[in-house]
Amino acid sequence: MNITGNTLFIPGGTSGLGLGLALRFRAAGNTVIVGGRRQELLDQITNEHPGIHAVRIDTADPASIADATAQVIANYPELDSVILMAGIMQAEDLTTPDFLATSERIITTNLLGPIRLIAALTPHFASRPSATIVTVSSGLAFVPLPVTPTYNATKAAIHSFTESLRVQLADTAIQVMELVPPKVATELMGNADAADSMPVDEFLDETMSIIAAQPDATEILVDRVKFLRFAEVEGRYDAVLTMLSGH
Ligand SMILES: NC(=O)c1ccc[n+]([C@@H]2O[C@H](COP(=O)([O-])OP(=O)(O)OC[C@H]3O[C@@H](n4cnc5c(N)ncnc54)[C@H](OP(=O)(O)O)[C@@H]3O)[C@@H](O)[C@H]2O)c1
Repeated sequence: MNITGNTLFIPGGTSGLGLGLALRFRAAGNTVIVGGRRQELLDQITNEHPGIHAVRIDTADPASIADATAQVIANYPELDSVILMAGIMQAEDLTTPDFLATSERIITTNLLGPIRLIAALTPHFASRPSATIVTVSSGLAFVPLPVTPTYNATKAAIHSFTESLRVQLADTAIQVMELVPPKVATELMGNADAADSMPVDEFLDETMSIIAAQPDATEILVDRVKFLRFAEVEGRYDAVLTMLSGH
């Protein structure tokens, strides 16, 4: 993915990492369209950042995905990139059946959402000279945080889906990248004030410089996430799982 010259859609761009990347990519000379459910944030972003465009989308709703992607393609026919950023993270107590509604909600947003967006956008991307799909997993795809079981499972599934997608699209001009964030100080799970969270600006700086230096990278790995990403291959899996279990 080139760092400049793209027309980039970021569903999940109203806050946190999505908004941060929207501003960075806009500053780097891309056309950027952010999406999300919170209309007041979409209005605020377009008012404060002329040049950033917005579309309302609920990625848990297939009809909303169909409407919003059709709108974006119609209004920005040069659309050639997407960062599938929309996601939620919630704790679940698996010792009672009460977790099920939360689990289903997380799967709908974090797994079905990106899959439905890929289905909606890939035909258009195939018509472009080149295009990029960026999926968003997590370090927790590689070692689970036991308090958020379904979240970890959806991110592991996104990692696996991304690997297959890349193979199946290998003969096309559509590139597939996976962004694998560590714990970053956003509103996700109230991480904003956690002492062990990576500051958002540091994450954005490092991420943009990795993409600029390695436009063909398959995974975007800031240094901080390697602890989780390579735990198993480096023989540290059990120790890291014990640490994440709070034991
Ligand atoms: N921060 C971390 O530590 C971390 C680590 C690893 C991975 N990640 C991943 O990075 C992504 C962004 O998270 P963040 O940390 O930036 O959290 P955030 O500030 O809470 O941002 C989440 C974004 O997703 C959007 N979203 C959630 N549900 C949606 C839905 N149904 N439809 C449309 N948009 C929806 C939100 O927009 P609206 O509320 O306006 O809809 C918001 O823009 C997530 O996929 C997360 O799993 C984050």
